[in-house]
Order: sequence, then C-alpha cells, then structure tokens
Amino acid sequence: MSGIFGRGHSGSNAPIMPPTVPSPAPTPTEEATVPLSQPLPFVRPAEELVSAATATEEAPPVAAPVGPTGRPLPDLPDPRPLTSHGHARVIAMCNQKGGVGKTTTTINLGASLAEFGRKVLLIDFDPQGSLSVGLGLNPHEMELTVYNLLMQRDVTLDDVIVPSGVPGMDLLPSNIDLSAAEVQLVHEVAREQTLQRVIGKAIETYDVILIDCQPSLGLLTVNALTACDGVIVPLECEYFALRGVALLKTTIDKVRERLNPRLEIDGVLGTMYDGRTLHSREVMERLVQAWGDKVFHTVIRRTVKFSDSTVAGEPITSYATGSPGAEAYRQLAKEVAVRCLDV
Ligand SMILES: Nc1ncnc2c1ncn2[C@@H]1O[C@H](COP(=O)(O)OP(=O)(O)O)[C@@H](O)[C@H]1O
Ligand SMILES: [Mg+2]
Repeated sequence: MSGIFGRGHSGSNAPIMPPTVPSPAPTPTEEATVPLSQPLPFVRPAEELVSAATATEEAPPVAAPVGPTGRPLPDLPDPRPLTSHGHARVIAMCNQKGGVGKTTTTINLGASLAEFGRKVLLIDFDPQGSLSVGLGLNPHEMELTVYNLLMQRDVTLDDVIVPSGVPGMDLLPSNIDLSAAEVQLVHEVAREQTLQRVIGKAIETYDVILIDCQPSLGLLTVNALTACDGVIVPLECEYFALRGVALLKTTIDKVRERLNPRLEIDGVLGTMYDGRTLHSREVMERLVQAWGDKVFHTVIRRTVKFSDSTVAGEPITSYATGSPGAEAYRQLAKEVAVRCLDV
C-alpha cells in the first residue's frame, strides 16, 4: 500500500505541501477592528432559528436511553386494570432448541402478568414436565394431566387444572404420560386441533393462556401452534441459537397457511444475555437485523437466580422479588400487554 500511495510524495520530486498547522482563528479584538465599510455578516431569519431549536428538542436519541437491543428504550405503562376477565389471548412459547428459556419465560411472564391482575393459565405441553416441577409439583403424584384431557373425552378442564401457588395463576400439569399422546394422536380425527378443542372453555374465563412447548417441532408443538393466537420465541443470546430459527419460521408459516390463519409472532425474546460480552451484543444485533421490531426491547440477563428459583419450585417474581431477573420479566409483561393484550 505505502509503495503505491507513497510514490511521488517523497524525495526531491515531492510537491510543496501547504502548512499542516491551520492559521489561528481571529480573536475578538481582531474582529472588532474590521472596518465598518465591509458588508454585515448574514443573519438567519427568526422563524428558521425557532424551527431549528424545536428540531433539537424533539430528537429522540437524546431523550431515550438506548437499550441492549440497540434501539431507544420505550417508557412502558403498567397494564391497565381489568374489571372483568375472559377472551384470553393464547400464546405459545416455542423453539425446537432445548435450554433456551421457554419454561422459565412461561413461569415468570405468567407470574408477572398475574401480579398485574391478569387471570393466567399455564399449560405444560412438554412431556418432561419442567413447568409443573418448576411450580413445585411432583410428577409422580399427579392424578390427571393434560394427557388425560387430550385423550379421554370424559375428562374436563376443571378435573385437571390445579392452582400454581401464585395468586391468579393456574396450571394444566403434565408428566411423561404426554409422550404417549404424540403417538396416539396420529390416529385421531383432526389430530392437530386436539389441544385447541379441549382448552376452548378456558378462553372464556382467563385473560392469558401460556403454552410451554416441548423442544421439537412434532405433533404436540403443531397442536400448540394451532391452538394459539401468537408465538413468543425465546432465543439464547449465543451464536448457535440463531441456527434452526429459519426452520421454526417455516413451521409457523405452514401452520398459519394450513391450520391457523390468525397465528402471529408476538415477539422474539433474547435470553441469557450477558452485556459484558461482545458476543452477546453481536447476537442481539443480528436478531434485530433479522426480526426487526418483533424483537422485544426487554432482554433477560443470565443469572443463577433462575435455577435457584426452579429448585425452590416458584417463580423468580416471588422467590427473589426485587431481583433484576424478576424486574426483567415484569418489564416483559408490560411489553406483552402493550403489544398484544391491551389492544
Ligand atoms: N436468564 C437465565 N439465566 C440463567 N439461567 C437461566 C436463564 N433462563 C433459564 N435458565 C436456566 O437454564 C435452564 C434451561 O432453561 P429452561 O427455561 O428450562 O429452557 P427450555 O424450556 O427452553 O428448555 C434451566 O436450568 C433454567 O433455570
Ligand atoms: Mg422447557
């Protein structure tokens, strides 16, 4: 590089360069000595000055701090108080990758919405039953689970729903029995609509129903996507988390085309974010490039408090109520309310 660009600028043929030091700016005393015969400097019209001032006042980057997604953080209101319940929005927590925060988000978003006065039903739709265990239930002691509701016509919602331990939030529990449903449903008429059919009554009494999906795109997940109005995709802020998202998007598009035209993506949630690493920040940037405004402004940071609260069998919002993790899920609840509940 220097060989090409340097040629002609060195040695005896070098052009005479202007001095690099700029001449000093005129001092106030020098200005004062300018003869009066010279024309007056141009003065801007008053209205132009006014509009320039307002433009600076309205500039958003100065007012709103930039959040971890690289966009200005909105000031979100608390969800509006409700006078009656019902017409639930059904939201599925979906990602075929395991360990990305689906179950953690279902428990804590649910608990936060319940704190804001929403009547919430959580559906454990993963045969691993982590949601049920995370709320303190023993998988071996369950009489009836979502499996019975799906497969036995005489079992009703009221038979299976249990309190979650959080005021205002109930649970449809699950255990390993549900893995049999995946096989048995194959022979059912309208097999993809089975979950939608059995939770119909719950939509009349709850404000929000959150479905915790299993880490696969099999028949159970297709049932969840058919039964819901919206999907939240939790994504770990780690490079490999972005792989497989295209397949998930294709599955969502197919379900929308063939089974559930109202299906929307309610949002993409960055989880296990570590703002100290460039890596996390880059993944966040890629997410916003790929999904735009679908990415929630709220991100969930990595903290051991989540595993601790699972062991304790309760949401982080009650286990460590003032912790940053609890606050993050309350913030997410506000964002979800603004986007798809209070509309
Ligand atoms: N933000 C977080 N920071 C640290 N650990 C987390 C976080 N979210 C979830 N975890 C932990 O990671 C593990 C997997 O999370 P989980 O919600 O069960 O994922 P999934 O349901 O997608 O498989 C659990 O042990 C959980 O406690
Ligand atoms: Mg899970």
